[in-house]
Amino acid sequence: MNPLKHVAIIMDGNGRWGLKHKNSRNAGHKAGLNTVEKIIKETIKNKIDFLTLYAFSTENWKRPKKEINYLFSLLQTFLIERIEELHKQNIKLKIIGIKSFSSKLNNLLKRSEKKTSKNKKLQINLALNYGSKFEIINAFKKLKKNKEKINEKNLSKYLLTRDVPDPDILIRTGNTNRLSNFLLWQLAYSEIFFEKKLWPDFNEKDYNKIIKNFKKIKRNFGKI
Ligand code: FPP
Repeated sequence: MNPLKHVAIIMDGNGRWGLKHKNSRNAGHKAGLNTVEKIIKETIKNKIDFLTLYAFSTENWKRPKKEINYLFSLLQTFLIERIEELHKQNIKLKIIGIKSFSSKLNNLLKRSEKKTSKNKKLQINLALNYGSKFEIINAFKKLKKNKEKINEKNLSKYLLTRDVPDPDILIRTGNTNRLSNFLLWQLAYSEIFFEKKLWPDFNEKDYNKIIKNFKKIKRNFGKI
């Protein structure tokens, strides 16, 4: 059975779910947050060490301001209300992406990371204002600046995921089969599961089914 240390998720389909059920994309984001909570619990139950969630991409700035503001207010409320609980559960929160939000949100993110930095049960990497191409270019720039040899090991240490093993599983919900500039380097050997359900409809049973299937896969990493 394959060991499972890291699950990464592209939580797609909130907007469509919201329009279908409540005639509002933002209602879909709110419902998506409930799924986030369920999946965190299930990740702990499955004794998985790392969970990386794609919450906001560098391309998501192209959305209407009203939706962007709603997403960040949701995140802000979530952190204010839930960080204590996450901390009690021994969960470490790490932001991957560029923290260039309002000073209030930047401070809240930094405080949340600091508060939970020593926790050991589960590390949640929240990809916020994250873009993989930018991350890789930035890593090359650092190699050049420090006159370091270009190789996998050196490049990896300048990625935002430097202390995290590569994802074993990538799940994308929402019936769309693409990577959307997410962890392009780190997903080189991940098992990818595209899920038809929209993120707010995705549940513990779906998640456990994927985990069960993953454990049975013969992973070769290029060998035979
Ligand atoms: C993609 O669905 C989802 C997002 C861009 C935001 C994800 C946010 C959440 C799950 C809720 C907030 C999370 C936290 C951690 C506070 P989409 O809007 O692109 O859906 P669509 O493809 O149906 O339009």
